[in-house]
Amino acid sequence: MVGLFSKTVVAATVRMPKWFVGWVSRRYVAGPALEDAVKVMKRLSEEGACFTVDVLGEEITNLDQAHFFFEEYVRVLDAIRTHNLDANLSIKPTAFGLLIDRKKGMENIEKLVKLAHDQSMFVRLDMEDHRVTSDTIQVVLDLHKKGLTNVGTVLQGRLFRTLDDINALEVELGPAADYRICKGIYLEPEDIAYTGYQDIVDSTNACIDRMLLAGSYCSIASHDLPVVDYALEALTSHGMGPGLPDPRPNAGPQRDAKGPGYEFQMLLGVRGPLRRKLAKDGHRTRVYIPYGEKWYEYSIRRLKENPTVGAQVAKAFLMPWTNRP
Ligand code: FDA
Repeated sequence: MVGLFSKTVVAATVRMPKWFVGWVSRRYVAGPALEDAVKVMKRLSEEGACFTVDVLGEEITNLDQAHFFFEEYVRVLDAIRTHNLDANLSIKPTAFGLLIDRKKGMENIEKLVKLAHDQSMFVRLDMEDHRVTSDTIQVVLDLHKKGLTNVGTVLQGRLFRTLDDINALEVELGPAADYRICKGIYLEPEDIAYTGYQDIVDSTNACIDRMLLAGSYCSIASHDLPVVDYALEALTSHGMGPGLPDPRPNAGPQRDAKGPGYEFQMLLGVRGPLRRKLAKDGHRTRVYIPYGEKWYEYSIRRLKENPTVGAQVAKAFLMPWTNRP
């Protein structure tokens, strides 16, 4: 039933005029320009949030297009400094060419991470679909080996492999491992991923446990109460929490502009009251801020990739009391 509703919403949305999709997306995308993202961050700073900025756009078709992303992220770095924002970067490896030419993609990413490193800025490699999981993790390992420890990736609870990845990264990086854990937005084939809601929640929670046990930095990126509540309990059981230094004996030193071993992360426009409650309770809460000219393509692609997003967006508009920005 939910599946049918989701698919109907997606089918209807892709036929909607662009202005309508734009009107809906306004809640989830800061705007077409960097200035729009700065404005949104300044406003949300007053709610105790910090940020990670995403320039919209993903897989490129030729390497020249990677220049656009590099230049735009350089502008983001400048804006963060100029406006004194508590923010870092989120980048999509395929936008830097990882799927076209692994070596060139790596060079492009390294150039940006080095620039960020010189400004004590963290860069998160978003995780895309399973075609790039191994390569994305490898990029992080290679950069750490080069001394660029200001980079971490995202792991997806829905993938069967994720616990093994955490184990392997613990060996390779020790306490320098820095994760965002999320359920994973891409609907992956069932021979490599969980597909049922409860299995995905259980697996995501197991990954949170494993990351905390490994002494890693753990960014919990979910709006789902069974994940958020589980994470809060897990943090308590490790003696971790707001205002407390990270007590885990295997954790590294406190990181610049980060929480005490963990933080919560949410998407712009989703479950604001939950985020504000966490911030009010003293937890570091980071909002993912997408902006860019490609907002239309981004919105439509997200809906097609995962029709449940369409259902959630429709629910948020039809029943606004369930999910305020
Ligand atoms: P779930 O989808 O069950 O949502 C719980 C509730 O939150 C819903 O019932 C609804 O009320 C609300 N909600 C969630 N999404 C909504 C939406 N779009 N509109 C309206 N309401 C919504 N994935 C990935 O594969 N690679 C990545 O790099 C990232 N990065 C990332 C960063 C951050 C900061 C977040 C929060 C998420 C990601 N994701 C991601 C996406 C993630 O994998 C997942 O698809 C979404 O967060 C939705 O999963 P939830 O855990 O929120 O649960």
